[in-house]
Amino acid sequence: MDKAKTVAEADLARINEIVAEYSQQKWALIPLVQKIQSEFGYIPPQSILIIARALGLYPCQVQGVISFYSQLYTEPRGKKIVRVCRGTACHVRGGKTILKLVNQHLGIEEGQTTPDWEYTLETVACIGVCALAPNIVVGDRVYGHMNPKSVEQLFKKDKE
Ligand code: FES
Repeated sequence: MDKAKTVAEADLARINEIVAEYSQQKWALIPLVQKIQSEFGYIPPQSILIIARALGLYPCQVQGVISFYSQLYTEPRGKKIVRVCRGTACHVRGGKTILKLVNQHLGIEEGQTTPDWEYTLETVACIGVCALAPNIVVGDRVYGHMNPKSVEQLFKKDKE
């Protein structure tokens, strides 16, 4: 079932509560959408009209700002975001193979979310710890020196 299309009434009530805190404060658009995203993991599309009305903006203005920032999402994402580094140092040390293995372990491609909403898989340019290449980031934690065995252990351990 598509979570984006099924925001429960209780969720809409909560969105209205959050939005009410920022009523008529156009400057507050960014903190407002960030707050909604931090609570729901994404910005439910149903909230765009509510936000626009409350702040005195056009819905397309709200949508435009959300689309502009790549860190804002209107689609639900997994509880854990897995980022495989595709920077040069990671690439030359087998990053492509690591990505393929993560694809296989999670059963999803880049940009997809597992059906249980546990993981979303992304790739990322250099994360700044090239000495540990190849790297994977799960949530806020960096896993360095990845190899086929450590990829398997990482996701096996995580499933236990
Ligand atoms: S290239 Fe992967 S951390 Fe720098």
